[in-house]
Amino acid sequence: MLSRRRFFFRAAISTLAAQIGLHFRAAAQRLPTLHPNDSRAARAITINVNGVERTLTVEPRVTLLDALRDRLGLTGTKKGCDQGTCGACTVMVNGRRIDSCLTLAVMHAGDRVVTVEGIAQNGVLHPVQRAFITHDGFQCGFCTPGQIVSAVALLNEGKRLDRETIRTEMSGNLCRCGCYPHIVDAVLEAAGTS
Ligand code: FES
Ligand code: FES
Repeated sequence: MLSRRRFFFRAAISTLAAQIGLHFRAAAQRLPTLHPNDSRAARAITINVNGVERTLTVEPRVTLLDALRDRLGLTGTKKGCDQGTCGACTVMVNGRRIDSCLTLAVMHAGDRVVTVEGIAQNGVLHPVQRAFITHDGFQCGFCTPGQIVSAVALLNEGKRLDRETIRTEMSGNLCRCGCYPHIVDAVLEAAGTS
């Protein structure tokens, strides 16, 4: 049998849910329908993501990070600061590593984007990924996708790498768990084997 307290609790939750629903419906009705020529209107773009052509419809205000995570379901790329300071959102665009929170999806129509989901090939881990495991290059793992994408791009850049260079080149990828020595070990090993 429903206790009096539980009954009132459930009634309160239902009322709250109904009010939230009404609020969002009213807000949606207030949104203006934009003319397709309006620069703020959503548009269809095609981006090559991890080797697959993906077409999505996005408003010009949507960042590449949000398009990848929320529209394409590629949640490996993390949203940390959302303002270009932590590197958790690092992806490769046409081979260059960038902070995907600092760029708009519509600017990348026709580009080649590689996220952490596209680093392993046919189920085989990239040497950087193997080295991160060998050297315990992570603790909570939140920064790890960005670290891995950044490290893979760094190796592709073909620079001569020593500990100091790796630290400098990866300085845009912060790790709040302080795994830096292990990350540098991992990148150094991957540089020697890839
Ligand atoms: S989430 Fe993009 S740099 Fe932090
Ligand atoms: S492993 Fe936790 S933030 Fe880097």
